Amino acid sequence: GGTAEARDLAGLLAADPAPGWRVTSSLAGRVSTPRLPPGEVRVGGFGGAEGLAAWLTGHRVDALVDATHPFAAAMSRHAAEAAARTDVPLLVLRRPGWTPAPGDDWHDAGSLTEAAGQLPSLGRRVFLTTGRMGLAAFAALDELWFLVRSVEPPGEPAPSRTEVLLDRGPFTLAGERELLRRHRIDVVVTKDSGGAAT
Ligand SMILES: NC(=O)c1ccc[n+]([C@@H]2O[C@H](COP(=O)([O-])OP(=O)(O)OC[C@H]3O[C@@H](n4cnc5c(N)ncnc54)[C@H](OP(=O)(O)O)[C@@H]3O)[C@@H](O)[C@H]2O)c1
Repeated sequence: GGTAEARDLAGLLAADPAPGWRVTSSLAGRVSTPRLPPGEVRVGGFGGAEGLAAWLTGHRVDALVDATHPFAAAMSRHAAEAAARTDVPLLVLRRPGWTPAPGDDWHDAGSLTEAAGQLPSLGRRVFLTTGRMGLAAFAALDELWFLVRSVEPPGEPAPSRTEVLLDRGPFTLAGERELLRRHRIDVVVTKDSGGAAT
């Protein structure tokens, strides 16, 4: 789990009138007060693919669903490995990335470090929506001002001119526009994680 889609799926399965479903959602434990999906929930890492494989066997799991965020690469890799090792069928919920439309002014970056390298040529006032992990990539950009939005306070080194906004989605288009206006944002850094909400 760890996504709105995973919560929706857990809700659909919990509401399924067919008897016999036992659904467990798994969360990494990054957020101290997570939005809990319906049904059983377990929190914390499994200990790599090997740990997940042992969990699947130990709990006699019939099917595994990878509904993690598109940027949760390690977990998806471990799920594929563990499913193959234990012969448990794996369903992967994929959110395709976005497609630019006329008028969009997008600058692709392959990593947060690459994005940080591009920023000084794109603007002075930055809205960073990539989460509190990886903030260190922007820490040296002292000449820029950052609005950092995250669910939990960032623990990593941050740029010296940073304002933190603790909030969690879903957000509204009108609210987002107002935020950009109020803070006179020049450039937004976000993850191309697909979906309509972002
Ligand atoms: N990356 C993002 O931008 C992002 C955005 C929104 C939500 N999320 C959600 O936040 C969680 C962590 O994301 P991440 O990018 O840090 O993951 P990651 O880099 O792929 O995973 C790092 C480690 O965290 C543990 N882990 C990750 N997802 C887990 C889950 N659903 N249940 C149990 N353990 C999990 C695993 O530990 P072990 O090896 O010990 O099993 C994994 O090896 C995921 O559930 C993801 O869906 C991520």
